[in-house]
Amino acid sequence: MVARVIPVEDFDLVIFGGTGDLARRKILPGLFHRYLAGQIPREARIVGAARSEMDAEGYRAFTREALQEFAPNSCKDGGQVEAFLAMLSYVAIDARGDGGWTELAGLMRPDVVQAFYFSVAPALFGDLAERLHGHGIATEASRIVVEKPFGRDLESARQLNRGLAEYFTEEQIYRIDHYLGKETVQNLMAVRFGNVLFEPLWNAQFVDHIQVTVAETVGVGGRGEYYDKSGAMRDMVQNHLMQLLCLIAMEPPSKFDPDAVRDEKLKVIRALDPVAPEDIVRGQYRAGEDGPSYLEEVGDPRSTTESFIALKVHVANWRWNGTPFYLRTGKRLRARMSEIVVVFKEPPHSIFGDDAGRSANILTIRLQPDEGMTLQVTIKEPGPGGMRLIDVPLDMSFAEALGESGNQMPDAYERLIMDVVRGNQTLFMRGDEVEAAWAWTDPLIAGWEARRDKPQAYHPGTNGPEDSLMLLHRDGRRWRDLEA
Ligand code: BG6
Repeated sequence: MVARVIPVEDFDLVIFGGTGDLARRKILPGLFHRYLAGQIPREARIVGAARSEMDAEGYRAFTREALQEFAPNSCKDGGQVEAFLAMLSYVAIDARGDGGWTELAGLMRPDVVQAFYFSVAPALFGDLAERLHGHGIATEASRIVVEKPFGRDLESARQLNRGLAEYFTEEQIYRIDHYLGKETVQNLMAVRFGNVLFEPLWNAQFVDHIQVTVAETVGVGGRGEYYDKSGAMRDMVQNHLMQLLCLIAMEPPSKFDPDAVRDEKLKVIRALDPVAPEDIVRGQYRAGEDGPSYLEEVGDPRSTTESFIALKVHVANWRWNGTPFYLRTGKRLRARMSEIVVVFKEPPHSIFGDDAGRSANILTIRLQPDEGMTLQVTIKEPGPGGMRLIDVPLDMSFAEALGESGNQMPDAYERLIMDVVRGNQTLFMRGDEVEAAWAWTDPLIAGWEARRDKPQAYHPGTNGPEDSLMLLHRDGRRWRDLEA
């Protein structure tokens, strides 16, 4: 099965922060992959814009290195690499002054799609927006792409929204949450709304509980300064896990279009109950054989920022009343594994008697690694031993099921950047959605700060703090094992 590639229109894409880490790791390699796939027209232009003095040749050399480091397998055809690099140019720009803006204006073509990627600190969003207008570069049709963190609380998110709204309409603003660009996350919607099988059972009557896990093995590494001001709640839950929760819990939108989908997600966020203190477990990793402790990495022995968090969350509406959502995410855990687990209720009555055993169906959607789905079903144990029941997985790895195209799933950023060019906002966060997420998050953080709550230490390479296991045990449930 070969994936269909529909080329996008001709475009000019300016990457502010074009020499930054995200550009090197994700944006430039992502664009290169889409170019190789035949999705980007040869006339398209990519303009790096950053503080460093550099010319177009310098930026091409920078990008060549980035591709060799982050997309080595795609660089085998040197001709293709050079053809891609020929699309690049560079402007040294002063985000807070006038330098470079006239030059940038001269590079933009009026008759093609124009997108500006703000891959810079949020403090510069307003400056960039103002200058793009002041220098007559942005038009009513231009799009801007903004990266997380979109604020650190409701107030700062509002300020950012207000600042951008002075210059751009909501239809022009693409707020990235890269989790929405992950193929399997989109599959969540396909599974829910493209099959009749699940939707009738997708409610509190049939679902016992839901688990969402995003576990990482890496620590905070060189990002300590940023991370220590955020913690797992702001860095992962307010955005990525919240988005997953929304896609699982939302009502079917009437169509797959930006506002229909985002309206439904917003309703979920607004329906979230406050979380009781006993339903929040925060942790911090200790030092291990292969790495320093969280406190050493962030260089602050007194930090109370969490590198792990687990929460029991309730969506207070008819569909989900009584079905808890358990969320957990953390760094330096046993395995890198992200998955959504829908645990259905046991059959209300067993016709086979208690001795035969009985258990629940479990639908597991693996986001990474080895994207796929497993449905645990109950069957008869083979053999003459009478009617005994066992659970077996109906297991589908997307890579196996889809053959070549399953192995070549585009990275989240590739998909999202192409959506910007196509003008499709469905997989981007709307301003009110981000604010609603902060409105739910803020009191939880304020609560533990007021209680002077300290995160529990956990050993790297484990499932996180003991209390996070208890969060489920006390409800007679258990987390799925963390394994890659
Ligand atoms: C980022 C967080 O948004 O997502 C990081 O800032 C985290 O802390 C990363 O490591 C996880 O993304 P992925 O795609 O590797 O699961």
